[in-house]
Amino acid sequence: MMPDVADDASYVIRSGVGALQRLELLAEICGPATDAFLERNGAERARRFLDVGCGIGAVANRMASAGVPHAVGIDINPEVVAGASDRARRAGSGATFQVAGLDDLGRGDLVDFDVVYVRCVLSHLPDPLPALRSLLAATRPGGLVLVEDVEVGATWSSPAEPALARHLDLYVAAARGIGARPDVGPDLAPGLRSLGATDVTVDVVQPVLRTPQALRIHARTMEAIAGPVLAQGLATTDEFDTLVARLDAWADEPGVVATLPRFVQVGGRRPTG
Ligand SMILES: C[S@@+](CC[C@H](N)C(=O)[O-])C[C@H]1O[C@@H](n2cnc3c(N)ncnc32)[C@H](O)[C@@H]1O
Repeated sequence: MMPDVADDASYVIRSGVGALQRLELLAEICGPATDAFLERNGAERARRFLDVGCGIGAVANRMASAGVPHAVGIDINPEVVAGASDRARRAGSGATFQVAGLDDLGRGDLVDFDVVYVRCVLSHLPDPLPALRSLLAATRPGGLVLVEDVEVGATWSSPAEPALARHLDLYVAAARGIGARPDVGPDLAPGLRSLGATDVTVDVVQPVLRTPQALRIHARTMEAIAGPVLAQGLATTDEFDTLVARLDAWADEPGVVATLPRFVQVGGRRPTG
């Protein structure tokens, strides 16, 4: 069933309760690469860990269960935070969640974190620099900012699938149409360096989708971008419905392998001076 066009035409991926199922799947698929990124950077040794734009809260929960005493997730969307809090309560996690956004960082209790982490948030903004500045402001001097974000254009499948190619074109056009940056990944490290971060590291990972359940992330993402795609007149509702149906059917075909977008993983320290 097609989502309501009025959902949200100003944010490329619909957020809120209706999107939580998609965020669950995304967190599961991205989990291993994110865990390796956090482990490489010693995030589990943090006393204070912050996940910005935390979605379902999986990363803050994971840090809490690894023994981080103060693992916090923030998200600008109150429904998302309510979902993350419920999930944490059910799992007996010590992580805490609050409604707050990038603009709140560096003030009140959103300061002095040993590690500030963010995934798949900066690609929704027109410019990563103010966001990176805010992330550094929430970090203690010498603490780490860890950012993972996408290059949507680098997504591929084998064999090639026209419905996936059309979906990706629509995603990129819809995101650019609202001023977002679906290929922000390569700009993250230069951005952090330009703000004086030290010890900047860059890694690249690309999760591979091999099961029907994982491959359906593309159909669910197509549904989730209904608002901006239809509001900008990039596709008709008929084409939209046909694409979602085709992406679901394609996910069940034997032998299909596809990827998520390429992810650039960047780390940098807040200068001590
Ligand atoms: C694509 S989801 C990613 C969720 C999670 N980080 C993950 O990778 O699974 C983007 C999340 O960022 C949140 N968000 C968007 N703008 C934000 C802002 N300015 N400050 C904090 N959160 C924001 C949205 O509400 C949404 O939950």
